[in-house]
Amino acid sequence: MANQFEVIVLGGGPAGYVAAIRSAQLGMSTAVIEKDKLGGVCVNIGCIPTKALLHSAYVANLLRHASELGVEAGAVKTDYGVAMKRSRRVSDQNSKGVEFLMKKHKITVVKGAGVLQPGRRVKVGNDVHEAKKAIIIATGSRVKGLPQIGLDLNKTTVISSDEALFLEKAPPSMTIIGAGAVGMEFADIFNAFGSAVTLIEALPRILPFEDAEASDALTKSYKKRGIDVITGATVKQGTAGADKVTLEVEAGGAAKRIESAVVLMAAGRALNTEEIGLKQCGIQLRDGGFIKADRNLQTEVPGYYAIGDVAGPPMLAHKGFREGVYVAELLGGKRSHPIRYDNVPSVTYCHPEVASIGLTEDQCKERKLGYVVGRFPFSANGRARGTGETEGFVKIIRDEKYGEILGAHIVGAQASELIHELAVARENEYTVEEVELAIHAHPTMSEAVAEAALDSLGRALHI
Ligand code: NAI
Repeated sequence: MANQFEVIVLGGGPAGYVAAIRSAQLGMSTAVIEKDKLGGVCVNIGCIPTKALLHSAYVANLLRHASELGVEAGAVKTDYGVAMKRSRRVSDQNSKGVEFLMKKHKITVVKGAGVLQPGRRVKVGNDVHEAKKAIIIATGSRVKGLPQIGLDLNKTTVISSDEALFLEKAPPSMTIIGAGAVGMEFADIFNAFGSAVTLIEALPRILPFEDAEASDALTKSYKKRGIDVITGATVKQGTAGADKVTLEVEAGGAAKRIESAVVLMAAGRALNTEEIGLKQCGIQLRDGGFIKADRNLQTEVPGYYAIGDVAGPPMLAHKGFREGVYVAELLGGKRSHPIRYDNVPSVTYCHPEVASIGLTEDQCKERKLGYVVGRFPFSANGRARGTGETEGFVKIIRDEKYGEILGAHIVGAQASELIHELAVARENEYTVEEVELAIHAHPTMSEAVAEAALDSLGRALHI
């Protein structure tokens, strides 16, 4: 006889564990099946440890300029191994936190790899678990290599973020393939820890999905720090030796050979949709390999839902969180707030940070929208001058007629925090006038948000 629950969640990452918590809060007996550590990629080998390492990188760079602040810190020495171990402790703390939350909400955690079966059942080893209401699939994604050009992950010289997070030492040189969020964050980290970093991007600019002005600002900042940025580049062939990797690269019509101790693959992730029994249950995939689901995130087979990375882009923890809450509320008979996928903030935690929400200026042009851009540079912000973090800007794109916020782009210190004022504004359909009318404390970085809003109205005060 199968173990019975009302809701079974397959995968204990951000989407899955939040779906489980909300299901339990709504009084449904809930189980989470997880083959590894609770918290998934985000907590264990993603968002959380990278933020710890990025903070170490920030401190190293801050100390290198400490004398300008009247603080003599001496010669700065870095030790990636120490930073790595600290980041592991932070991850473990967070994973234990998720364990605690499961206990607190009386959620059953089943350890093992689950395989879906028809009849809302999941097999884990010899045990079968059955869900009376629904199974929520939240199996996430994993790193991938580029075997087609000889760059399969060998975990020593050709690595992914999974291995980078456990290195004892920063390698003397590192080439990073892909300048999305992963590539940008690790370029920042290893540059600060003394590796000679080359960043290769296939598209014409780094952070290609961000606003072009954000990409430009980061390109300048990275080059200034000595990161070799190569865009519009095709890696033709990779050859991994025992202690170095050679890449044949074509960029701007010229061929280039790049040798480095380590290549870090950051060219996107693969979805964990194999070996979980989708086919046996009749669950279909769609374009991009995501699980096909309707607006309520229910797959084509009633009683099976998909959330998080497997359900579609953006592959971000906070999008997964929200989908988890949404499905749990639906199952609990609540009217869940619809998810606005166009209002998911995106943040890259490199230095300076990059955060955005809504449309880029190029997207506004493509859609032939009537828009006005407001900008405010941090170089004109008193707080930023005080901390010496004057790189970057706030850019708000507003609708020409009604002042609705079409998109917002922030580059600079605290961009990851500042973006939420605009997320709240967009979710509630506030106009730029309404953002600016809220009194912003002085001196704060947030004033740059209000000033960019004002600038879009042609009446910025401090520039
Ligand atoms: P990504 O898809 O964001 O970026 C990959 C980059 O690699 C793209 O710019 C792409 O053009 C480039 N690329 C692909 N093939 C290439 C090739 N052969 N040569 C050179 N460049 C190539 O993927 P990424 O950065 O691996 O991240 C995976 C997922 O995890 C994304 O959805 C990302 O948003 C998410 N993530 C989010 C973070 C955050 O929110 N801070 C941090 C890390 C990851």
